[in-house]
Amino acid sequence: WALAGWFPWLLWAYACCWSTGFCGKVVVWPTDASHWINVKVLLEKLVLRGHEVTVLVASSNLLIDYQDTSSPFAFEVLQVPFTQETLDDAMDEFLNFWMNEVPNLSPWKFMWRMKKDQEIFTDMLKQTCNTFVMNTQLIAKLKQANFDVLIADPLAVGGELVAEILEIPFVYSFRFSDGNVVERLCGGLPAPPSYVPASTSGMTDRIISVFRQITSEQQAHLFCCPSISSCVLQENLCALQTSPFSLDSEIWLIRTYWDFEFPRPFLPNFEFVGGLHCQPAKPLPKEMEEFVQSSGKHGIVVFSLGSMVYNLSDEKSNIIARALSQIPQKVLWRYKGKKPETLGSNTRIYDWIPQNDLLGHPLTKAFITHGGTNGIYEAIYHGIPMVGIPMFADQHDNIAHMRAKGAAVALDFSTLTTQDLADALKTVLNNSTYKENALRLSKIHHDQPVTPLDRAVFWVEFVMRHKGAKHLRPAAHHLTWYQYHSLDVLAFLFTCTAIAVFILVKCCVFCCRKCGKGIAKRKKE
Ligand SMILES: *[C@@H]1O[C@H](CO)[C@@H](O)[C@H](O)[C@H]1NC(C)=O
Ligand SMILES: *[C@@H]1O[C@H](CO)[C@@H](O)[C@H](O)[C@H]1NC(C)=O
Ligand SMILES: *[C@@H]1O[C@H](CO)[C@@H](O)[C@H](O)[C@H]1NC(C)=O
Repeated sequence: WALAGWFPWLLWAYACCWSTGFCGKVVVWPTDASHWINVKVLLEKLVLRGHEVTVLVASSNLLIDYQDTSSPFAFEVLQVPFTQETLDDAMDEFLNFWMNEVPNLSPWKFMWRMKKDQEIFTDMLKQTCNTFVMNTQLIAKLKQANFDVLIADPLAVGGELVAEILEIPFVYSFRFSDGNVVERLCGGLPAPPSYVPASTSGMTDRIISVFRQITSEQQAHLFCCPSISSCVLQENLCALQTSPFSLDSEIWLIRTYWDFEFPRPFLPNFEFVGGLHCQPAKPLPKEMEEFVQSSGKHGIVVFSLGSMVYNLSDEKSNIIARALSQIPQKVLWRYKGKKPETLGSNTRIYDWIPQNDLLGHPLTKAFITHGGTNGIYEAIYHGIPMVGIPMFADQHDNIAHMRAKGAAVALDFSTLTTQDLADALKTVLNNSTYKENALRLSKIHHDQPVTPLDRAVFWVEFVMRHKGAKHLRPAAHHLTWYQYHSLDVLAFLFTCTAIAVFILVKCCVFCCRKCGKGIAKRKKE
């Protein structure tokens, strides 16, 4: 800790502790990349409220800077067996695959590559998990520290195991799974495919929704409990549990909200805290502000493909640059690759942009985005219409939501032409319905009794104070699939009905025969 910088914070934090009478200890099993950017905001707020935050971090990672001495968190570094280079190469390969190779692949080659990529990353996550489990010294130290809660993300294999080892409750921060499989099977969250679209299937197609729910089922084993059994501690925690998915988070902090989601059933231990990282815009750096002001009445367009994609092929970057040069707005483009030859005089390239501050600038007219949840939420927060160029992960789903809400135009990255991008930009900039819809979402987002960040903090603290939130846990976790769908009850009722009908029919037949015989007798007489 750089105590000097944090001293005022600390004072304030202790004041908080005194007033609430509770300072806790939080340990974090983080997911890297954009997930980290999001959860970091929550952790910073927890530090501000007087809690101690310790992050378990792999020595090779993408965005978690554990050497940053000004960080408010304590880090425990796990010396993982894979090198930074291996990780960076895998990431480059992954991005290259999605950005340059996908359009030329046959569907089944594509599936095979997807599976291979997933294995590579899951393997590194497992190695990280193993490194932790085998570090008995660290485990002893952490146990002694008496943590109150663990914060994890189901996509980082092993969080639930770490919590189990440290014997503390855990909270998930989560956004997305294909076919809603993780929330459904690990969290027990109902998601009827008839009206809750299975992610990435688009918004309306019910056949695809049902199909994706079924096909995604086996993926659950990657993320739910069996991720644990793949760790060194084979002697399966799963075996101890009544159902494979009963090692469940106390609270799920879902990184969306009703401005983004469509109404769906949810459980009391699910809290929708989308946009918790968003803040009012701060002033821009001087040079950037001057450039923005030079746009005059036309305003500016902000363009970023996210924290991971910083490099495009020459062909793509020229296609994009040419389209950008055709609009009257000034464009601020976050890009680290080679400067494209067709770059217009209205476009400036930056290594890094203060994205939230730019989106909150009064002159900002549109946002060109890859569709990551963080960026989408910054646009919703500030009411900025979008042009979406989704590539992988939850990005297609995010853009599909925004398009369905009328706040975005979607483009296909692999077939992108200059004309497509130019047209999309002109539509979003000229047709006021996109701006109106974005503003409508923004108003919904801001009109909440408690901010998403405060709600997230409340529930983490709740779990710390009460050592869990078991009273919010649905009994669904203890049911088998046929009990869950009440098939056993239906079978029982069906059997009862069948027996009753059978007896009734038998009686009728018996009576009829008797009557028939009686009548026949009388006739004879
Ligand atoms: C990114 O840049 C490097 C070097 O500048 C280049 O070798 C690589 O091919 C680029 N990646 C893509 C996707 O074009
Ligand atoms: C968009 O609107 C501007 C000004 O209102 C106009 O000059 C321009 O031609 C319009 N573009 C399109 C594609 O309609
Ligand atoms: C603007 O966009 C909306 C939604 O796509 C469309 O219904 C409407 O016709 C457009 N308006 C104009 C003037 O093009």
